[in-house]
Amino acid sequence: MSMVQEAVQPDGDKLMQFVFRAVDEVGATLNAALVVIGDKLGLYRALADGGPQSPAELARSTETSERYVREWLNAQAAGGFVDYDPDSGRYGLEPEQAVALTDADSPAYLPGFFQIALGSVIDSPAILDRVRTGDGFGWHEHVHDVHEGCERFFRPGYNAHLIAEWLPALDGVVDRLEHGAVVADVGCGHGASTVLMAQAFPRSTFVGSDYHDQSIATAAERAREAGVEARVSFQAAPASGYGGGPYDLVTMFDCLHDMGDPVGAARHVRSTLKPDGTWMIVEPNAGDRTEDNFNPVGRAFYAFSTLLCTPASLSQDVGLALGAQAGEARIGDVVRAAGFTRFRRAAETPFNLVFEARP
Ligand SMILES: C[S@@+](CC[C@H](N)C(=O)[O-])C[C@H]1O[C@@H](n2cnc3c(N)ncnc32)[C@H](O)[C@@H]1O
Repeated sequence: MSMVQEAVQPDGDKLMQFVFRAVDEVGATLNAALVVIGDKLGLYRALADGGPQSPAELARSTETSERYVREWLNAQAAGGFVDYDPDSGRYGLEPEQAVALTDADSPAYLPGFFQIALGSVIDSPAILDRVRTGDGFGWHEHVHDVHEGCERFFRPGYNAHLIAEWLPALDGVVDRLEHGAVVADVGCGHGASTVLMAQAFPRSTFVGSDYHDQSIATAAERAREAGVEARVSFQAAPASGYGGGPYDLVTMFDCLHDMGDPVGAARHVRSTLKPDGTWMIVEPNAGDRTEDNFNPVGRAFYAFSTLLCTPASLSQDVGLALGAQAGEARIGDVVRAAGFTRFRRAAETPFNLVFEARP
């Protein structure tokens, strides 16, 4: 019997299905840029506030060029991001589109998600090079859209869940915060979580830190804008070396897996925590098995991880590169390696896992 296998011919229908799926993906890839354009130029905002408009009316109210706006509107309508009425020739937003595209207080708010995605794509030539060499690319090296998009992407989720669900899921933490706790928010970026906690717990004081000094400058500005600057201070410092304490609570929001040496950072957390203190770790939602993450959220997170999180960790000492989809088991290993004796999953949303670690 011959061992030579006959080449399997591709199924023509399946091939065309795959090609058309790819057409949709190309449209989606380009749409990230169009959403950011619409967001930055106030096109969605004008549609939400002013109701259905012709391209000329929208161009007039946003001081933009009618020819470009018409093309942008048609791309948006073809993708289901705006609504088109052929009878009037006007474009408008359904209530759900208006919320998702313009209401920064809604947990469904999307522009930040697109902004960080587009920023990541803009930096992808540098990542292409790192894929060859294995070198890292630091968070601080990215375009500003990554930093601002990150803040705008995460804030709606923190607004929806942090005070109402995540902190109450931790043992005794809300009680301490209400009576006056000392809190370190490590890897705080633009300080969305720090400011939110400071607003909710007026008797507590907060120290936000991040190794990226420009993010820290923005965080301090955000605290001033929110009027909480008297109880919130910021430090440009790595997670392995922030100061102050001892702390009742140390928090890390979507940053442990970005660090080169998460175990070293965890050891520092332990050394700055009161003996009865709590470390809250918020990480992207992920299953422990790779195949558990082959779903739309996992897909987006693996892509962010390739372009942002993995290169960020590889740019630092140790370079453990947990990846955004590390999952509970690997995060637990990091926590226990630093000497914490208690570790549990306290809460979760479709996008995040919330862990509690105690000394
Ligand atoms: C994905 S962003 C999250 C920022 C912020 N916690 C938030 O939720 O909006 C990751 C942050 O981790 C910070 N970071 C990365 N490595 C760090 C380290 N070794 N020490 C302190 N911060 C670090 C980055 O500068 C960045 O601000």
